[in-house]
Amino acid sequence: MVAVGRVIAIANQKGGVGKTTTAINVAVALAQSGARVLLIDLDPQSNATSGLTRDASDLKPGAPRVSIYDAMIERLSLSAIIRQVRDNLMLAPAGADLVGAEIELATAEARELRVKHIVESARVEYNYVLIDSPPSLGLLTLNALVAADSVLIPLQCEYYALEGLSALLGTIRRVRQALNPGLRIEGIVLTMFDSRNRLSRDIEREVRGHFPDQVFAVVIPRSVRLSESPSHGLSIFEYEGRSAGAEAYRRLAAEVAARTEQPSAES
Ligand SMILES: Nc1ncnc2c1ncn2[C@@H]1O[C@H](COP(=O)(O)OP(=O)(O)OP(=O)(O)O)[C@@H](O)[C@H]1O
Ligand SMILES: [Mg+2]
Repeated sequence: MVAVGRVIAIANQKGGVGKTTTAINVAVALAQSGARVLLIDLDPQSNATSGLTRDASDLKPGAPRVSIYDAMIERLSLSAIIRQVRDNLMLAPAGADLVGAEIELATAEARELRVKHIVESARVEYNYVLIDSPPSLGLLTLNALVAADSVLIPLQCEYYALEGLSALLGTIRRVRQALNPGLRIEGIVLTMFDSRNRLSRDIEREVRGHFPDQVFAVVIPRSVRLSESPSHGLSIFEYEGRSAGAEAYRRLAAEVAARTEQPSAES
């Protein structure tokens, strides 16, 4: 079977809303379900990279420390920088050098298209390419949005959640007009939901009211297990597979997969 890779950017310029937690756990859940998955870490903080790998010794001994930076700037091939982190799951790691990419690319030609070019060659090999992006609307996030078929937006259940969302939706609109007309909203996923907290329930109602067709049915609960797992280099399924957080991310991955099977649901 030739994989028809879907490229999904996970984006929200607000920091700490659950982008990386979502990227890691959806990637592992999809891989565990049998899909071939590539996760691209496009954040200089490298949280997705460290959250899936225990330490640098996971690298082959003597192997150069290459990252997505080298593919973007030095034009290394994707196959030269990826590493297998789980069955069915490849990681294009990030490093701190990615901070420099924004500056080094500032005057480069076609600077918004670097990740798109890298990803195009990968589509035939993967069912899903997920891109974790940094908390800004700078050049790295722009590269993710230009490369993607759709955007998955984690939204933290807190008071200012919707305010940041309008800036992101404005950026998505501009990217559609100028660089990637086919860019769709994969969906909004509510994260760090606390059912005992009235604010969480109010935010959920408000977001579902505003975007009736675009909010995933599953809500990711606030869970200490979810926040602990990355420090062990593990997904929630490997760290505490029976927790509510694991169940929620399993369901989110299933919703993403179901949307993939019905591509006619254009938005
Ligand atoms: N559902 C959850 N319950 C509890 N803690 C969570 C949950 N999701 C994420 N966290 C924790 O909240 C913090 C921010 O999450 P995460 O790193 O996924 O967000 P982010 O949007 O990627 O952040 P950044 O914008 O810095 O990249 C982390 O410490 C993470 O472990
Ligand atoms: Mg992150």
